[in-house]
Amino acid sequence: MVVAAILAGGKGSRMGSDLPKQFLETGGIPVIIRSINAFLSSSEVDNVIISVCADYYDYTKELVGQFVKTDKEIFIIHGGSTRSDTLFGIVSFMKEKNILDGSIVLTHDAVRPFINERIISENIEAAKKYGACNTCIPAVDTMLISDDGEFISSVPDRNHLFHAQTPQSFDAAKLYKLMSEMSEDVFNMLTDGCSVFTYSGEPVYLVRGESYNIKITFPDDIKRAESIIKEYYN
Ligand code: CTP
Repeated sequence: MVVAAILAGGKGSRMGSDLPKQFLETGGIPVIIRSINAFLSSSEVDNVIISVCADYYDYTKELVGQFVKTDKEIFIIHGGSTRSDTLFGIVSFMKEKNILDGSIVLTHDAVRPFINERIISENIEAAKKYGACNTCIPAVDTMLISDDGEFISSVPDRNHLFHAQTPQSFDAAKLYKLMSEMSEDVFNMLTDGCSVFTYSGEPVYLVRGESYNIKITFPDDIKRAESIIKEYYN
């Protein structure tokens, strides 16, 4: 089974809006709905889990009723207080539902609404083959490392640097096992599934993303999203 998990448990404090950013509209459609529908339109995805903070559970249900038309099963569950808690909640839910073993889970930030079919398909293929993958794009700018925030400590070779995006996709049972066996300190330190695999010495394959697969974080990103919609979605 291939499950798409939409992480929408955040509050979006950097956006500074009353409504968390995943519910803001771009081109007349809430950001979270664009993310959900992108996965539902892939014939390779069997069902979708949406993990939202408890305060927005009913609101999310209403939005899904209004904007989503599908025969696939959609589960809406409560997110956790950190991104890792939300992620672990998703694989724990899969275990409860008996859909963990043998499944691939694509974990996706609700606030990256411009995911496409190629990225989804390549994630599924890579997760099946390698057990884990991270969508990413090569770094364009030279990056600097500074230990004290005042002077450069080193300049890493840009050819080895990538910007991480989502989806991150996994052998779901392996992600559950690695997360459940971690100490509390390590669990709290790692915010995403690829860090869990990397920390545990497991390979994580790189799937090429797209520059327009942006994460909506700040108010300006809504304007960027509008221009991406004009360029790619009209
Ligand atoms: N997320 C989540 N559960 C949390 C925290 C974050 O599911 N407890 C999700 C967010 O909803 C988002 C994704 O993880 O889709 C990426 O996180 P980020 O952009 O940092 O979102 P927020 O935590 O909402 O934003 P901020 O840091 O500005 O508060």
